[in-house]
Amino acid sequence: MAPPRATARQQPSPLSDHGEIERHKRAAARAAAELVMDGMCVGLGTGSTVAHLLPAIAERGLKDLRCVATSPATDRAARELGLEVRALDEVGELDIAIDGADQIDPRGWLVKGGGGAHTREKIVAAAARRFVVIASAEKAVAQLTAPVPLELVAFGAQRTLLALAPAQLRDVPASPDGGLIADYCGPVGHPGELAARLSATPGVVEHGLFAPELVSLILIAGAHGIERRAGAKPEGGTAA
Ligand code: 5RP
Repeated sequence: MAPPRATARQQPSPLSDHGEIERHKRAAARAAAELVMDGMCVGLGTGSTVAHLLPAIAERGLKDLRCVATSPATDRAARELGLEVRALDEVGELDIAIDGADQIDPRGWLVKGGGGAHTREKIVAAAARRFVVIASAEKAVAQLTAPVPLELVAFGAQRTLLALAPAQLRDVPASPDGGLIADYCGPVGHPGELAARLSATPGVVEHGLFAPELVSLILIAGAHGIERRAGAKPEGGTAA
């Protein structure tokens, strides 16, 4: 359901690995679906892991659930499953948001935006009292690496890319908000410093580095079950 990716961020895995990875994504998604309760406002991420989450939530038949989608694909899929989807500004604060990730480092920094939806995903994560990340085990890495997704203002995009070099536009449609999707391709040794640099570059709408302070809980499913990692955002705390 995520748009195609122009960069080589994920090596194609052998078919057997692929089946196992899908099982792990599904396991993480189903564990996260159990955290959703009657009456909640729920932020829904984007991507193939979230594609497992949506039916897992819908199957629970919860009452008075209101969902906010981070992409047209998630919006469509959620509605098809009978989930009620509202605009973020209609519901305000979210009780919980659940989303996938491209990379997770040991300190809880994430790279997101493989599907180009990171701007809306970050807004939704920040609007949620609890932000839960779901992933299969190969997303857990010792050190984050490029590419780091970017959304750029179309005006002067070539100048912005020069300022961010090495960076390149991704061959995908503009975001639903009209931004161009690109990737920063340089070193990511210090995510905090890089995040500050990307945020400070004129023309960058948003980047795909998510700080640990945005994240409440990370559920990583692998061969030995589900690993739960606490994030730096207090569980049940107020939205950022
Ligand atoms: C989309 C995202 C996704 O959460 C991320 O790319 C992970 O995707 P998948 O679950 O398909 O591996 O950030 O913008």
